[in-house]
Amino acid sequence: MQLLLVNGPNLNLLGLREPSIYGPQTLESIELLLQKKADEEGISLQSFQSNSEGVIVDRIQQALGKVDGILINAGAYTHTSVALRDALLSTGIPYVELHLSNTYAREEFRQKSLLADCAVGIVCGFGAMSYVLAFDGILAHLNSDT
Ligand code: DQA
Repeated sequence: MQLLLVNGPNLNLLGLREPSIYGPQTLESIELLLQKKADEEGISLQSFQSNSEGVIVDRIQQALGKVDGILINAGAYTHTSVALRDALLSTGIPYVELHLSNTYAREEFRQKSLLADCAVGIVCGFGAMSYVLAFDGILAHLNSDT
């Protein structure tokens, strides 16, 4: 099984960036945590981060036919990007939307997601643990399909 973890804009600054909202962990430490879990489960996991919308669209398109499931924290693009939504839907790859913070308890503009209604599920508000829960969620979903 092949999974792809996608992180969007400003998530490369985790650890430094508003730690009271996003927590103290760096993106690298979160990616390592998930890699360890993937290794334990015998799953191939690729991790990708970009601040650029088009680059993320390209990466999602490249996953077509190669990846079984996507975990995506699209950062601010969650709330704005029709292009990311279209890319995800174009591949038909099941995905889980995730966020470190509880976006529904924050500013109104964060309470809208252009990705959520087509996701297998959404995880938000658990800090770095959101990634672990999303990983377990996509795995349970993919294993129940087979
Ligand atoms: C975020 C929430 C988004 O609203 C914000 O723009 C981010 C991070 C989160 O993980 O909580 O960049 O996706």
